Amino acid sequence: MPLTLTRALEAVLDGEDAEALRRATARLIEVYRSGAPPSAQVLRDPVSAAAYAAYRMPATHAAVSRVLRYAAEVVPGLAPRSLVDVGGGTGAAAWAVAEAFPGLGSVEVLDGSADALALGARIARNGPSVLAGARWTRRDLAANAPLPQADLATVSYVLGELPDDLGGRVVDAAMAAAGVVVVVEPGTPRGFAAVHAAREQLLAAGWHLVAPCPHEDACPLAAAGDWCHVGVRLDRTALHRRLKGASLGHEDEKVSYVVARREPAALPEGRVLRHPVTRKGMVRLEVCRADGNAAAEVVSKRQGPRYRAARHAGWGDRWPIGGTDPAD
Ligand SMILES: C[S@@+](CC[C@H](N)C(=O)[O-])C[C@H]1O[C@@H](n2cnc3c(N)ncnc32)[C@H](O)[C@@H]1O
Repeated sequence: MPLTLTRALEAVLDGEDAEALRRATARLIEVYRSGAPPSAQVLRDPVSAAAYAAYRMPATHAAVSRVLRYAAEVVPGLAPRSLVDVGGGTGAAAWAVAEAFPGLGSVEVLDGSADALALGARIARNGPSVLAGARWTRRDLAANAPLPQADLATVSYVLGELPDDLGGRVVDAAMAAAGVVVVVEPGTPRGFAAVHAAREQLLAAGWHLVAPCPHEDACPLAAAGDWCHVGVRLDRTALHRRLKGASLGHEDEKVSYVVARREPAALPEGRVLRHPVTRKGMVRLEVCRADGNAAAEVVSKRQGPRYRAARHAGWGDRWPIGGTDPAD
């Protein structure tokens, strides 16, 4: 029986030197907070890789899982059989894809850090069989070699670590390798800028958006100097709480993302951009709309099914959720 990622992390990391992990976690927090692309390899030794797995991997895994759910809602038939996880590190995105798509038959994780790959392979041994049998390949993305062909390419929390020109080349390489590309970054102005650049690059290459955008026009949030992102809540593991000295049992991971593919998808009418505000008999939603604009929509109880849909809608959901027909 495969373990969940949380249990698999505990099984591998429990014996680690807690003080060394804490120091390495503090260093990672510094590097990621600085916002700038790191000048040297971040996961440079086994303890840095272990700290990354303990402190970041549950959140990046939760973020990619959510993004895949949004993509599958727009394209219900999405069923990749092979994955290339670009800059895959300890394999968080590969775990999310393996869990989301039971038909996945092969996984290759590419990364520049031998220590991250080695740890990822150990953690994956306790996971779904496709992960236990994954290939973990050391690759410097700056070498510009073509990526292995796959149905799906994930580029998760990687572009922010690369110089701008390399980020563009990695997105090009992902398009050349796969029919569906998923790009995920932190939900910050800087993370969104990288995602937005990838969105424009995908569209310019004739690709089609799956999520989050309900249209392929210019992004209204970028035009307004805002950034498109969604919050994903996840439970903190006991190990995570110890490493960060945190007392809260959960954290909110903010994420910006784009999913695109070669063929057009039937895009939803809208996408919810903020937490909906519920008042007696009405729900106010901020919505990115199919006409390319972002605007508020107030849904009142008189609107019946649309109101019920609004009551269940959350930040990041397609709108109306469940494809509710406004006329019904
Ligand atoms: C923040 S981690 C993300 C790991 C994983 N994708 C995730 O979502 O948790 C960034 C990863 O990119 C890798 N990376 C950064 N620059 C790279 C390069 N030039 N070539 C290959 N991998 C690189 C790092 O080694 C690291 O594993």
